[in-house]
Amino acid sequence: MHLLGRPGIQIKWSDSVRLTLIQPDDWHVHLRDGAMLRAVLPDTARRFARAIVMPNLKSPVRTVAEACAYRERILAVLPDGSAFRPLMTLYLTDNTATTEIEDAKASGFIHGVKYYPAGATTHSDLGVTDIERCYDTLAAMEAVGLPLLVHGEITDPSVDIFDREAVFIDRVLARLVARFPRLKIVLEHVTTGEGVAFVKAAPATIAATLTAHHLLLNRNAMFRGGLRPHAYCLPVLKRERHREALVAAAISGSPKFFLGTDSAPHARHTKEAACGCAGLYTAHAGIELYAEAFQEAGAIERLEGFASLHGPAFYGLAPNRKRITLVLEPWVVPAEIDLAPSGIADSLIPFRAGERVGFRIIATGP
Ligand code: DOR
Ligand code: ZN
Repeated sequence: MHLLGRPGIQIKWSDSVRLTLIQPDDWHVHLRDGAMLRAVLPDTARRFARAIVMPNLKSPVRTVAEACAYRERILAVLPDGSAFRPLMTLYLTDNTATTEIEDAKASGFIHGVKYYPAGATTHSDLGVTDIERCYDTLAAMEAVGLPLLVHGEITDPSVDIFDREAVFIDRVLARLVARFPRLKIVLEHVTTGEGVAFVKAAPATIAATLTAHHLLLNRNAMFRGGLRPHAYCLPVLKRERHREALVAAAISGSPKFFLGTDSAPHARHTKEAACGCAGLYTAHAGIELYAEAFQEAGAIERLEGFASLHGPAFYGLAPNRKRITLVLEPWVVPAEIDLAPSGIADSLIPFRAGERVGFRIIATGP
């Protein structure tokens, strides 16, 4: 069976694999707000000690005061006893003031500034129209040591959607790296061989996050037997050779590559629509799916560096103290997650809905 939307899955489900790793962090997640936040937060908080929380709410998180209020809303709905820590971000606009950057750094709870090219993806309308307008802001970030987190896709509608990352790198990212040599930059959810090659060749200030779905799926998954809206995200899935380049980067041991799920929940009926939203919900198996990708690549021993060590090192934070234990023991993902208990009359279709995930968490502890 083509379980992953492509042929050739290697995992033998009968293998006996058990691994204990330092508790991972998610360096890119969408937690949303209100009822959806209540519905999805427990999945992330159960697996990850910390997460970089994306600021693309309907009304984006543009100021330190807004980030502080959003952080409080997250903490208020954490499951009892959870020690999960949200690491907040600001949403870069053409007008983000340098004083906001200084205040963000001083806050201690803001760890990055997200650059969405205007129109590139969900709630990016208020994003950056021309990055040159932000040069003073970027200089302030470079000076205080606040990373720039980049949605790396050009928005020029004449550029083929599958080429938008590679063209963004040529037209925008390469220039930024040259102009701001001390600015830390994360190319978020890198999806192409070109992206991987760029990050590898760039100075140590440049890193990238990788999603589990881009490690596990190629673009055929969007068209398997028909149109599959639940495999549609941005940046869009790419060809198999790109997926292979991403896996090679993830398992390379390079500290430049680390875990960022980009779990992005959208209620079922906003995805199953004439113009469906971009985003896959993966938080319900946020670490398990990466374990599967690493196991399939024969490199499970490299998972801890990727999931638990490289990210903290890049962000200047200590690794977590707790550990989690995973076993290779398949379980079936629910066909849908009812959102009614959280107050939304709809459901969420999780990644691998009704299908198997290879790994499960059996313990979290000291
Ligand atoms: O697929 C995506 N969904 N890509 C993004 O860049 C945004 C995200 C979302 O917020 O839904
Ligand atoms: Zn995202």
